[in-house]
Amino acid sequence: MKIPNLNILDEKNKILRTVSKEVVFPLSSEDEKLIFDAIKYLELSQDDKIAEKYDLRAGMGLAFVQLGVPKRIFVIANKNEDDSFEEHIVINPVIKSASEELVYVGEGEGCLSINRPTTGIVPRHARVNVEYQDIKGNKQTIRVREDIAVAFQHEIDHLNGILFSIFINMFKSSIVNPFIIINVIK
Ligand code: NI
Repeated sequence: MKIPNLNILDEKNKILRTVSKEVVFPLSSEDEKLIFDAIKYLELSQDDKIAEKYDLRAGMGLAFVQLGVPKRIFVIANKNEDDSFEEHIVINPVIKSASEELVYVGEGEGCLSINRPTTGIVPRHARVNVEYQDIKGNKQTIRVREDIAVAFQHEIDHLNGILFSIFINMFKSSIVNPFIIINVIK
């Protein structure tokens, strides 16, 4: 078993607060390799035995900026009930529309760059429509919902230099209408 050797930056690193740059196609072979290494890493990190043996924290998303490469690319790999993975490679994403309905992850969001306990929730749109480019540079649109929608919004924040921790419990403030529907993802 070979775990991809990724250097995941900690939140103290200022690069994480920079706005990542638009990606120009074609991708370099280094960027393509980093995409597939990141997906492999995420999938291995969600295997309990491997995670324990190699001391990996489970993660379902990584943005390139977390690997020290401030380009507008992120990947998601989320384990399905049948142990297969839902994978997304998302480049130059733009949120085109978002539901009024909000959701939050009941146990709180996590981030491979935040290596400390965090408590509190982050309200997110329950569904978002996103335009992006695939690994070949072709324009795509996708509608994502629930946990994948949360992951997309978390990763797009990374591309804009934002860590989820600043949003914790924002629903208590006036920024979000308190009467809006807000559901929990278990
Ligand atoms: Ni993160």
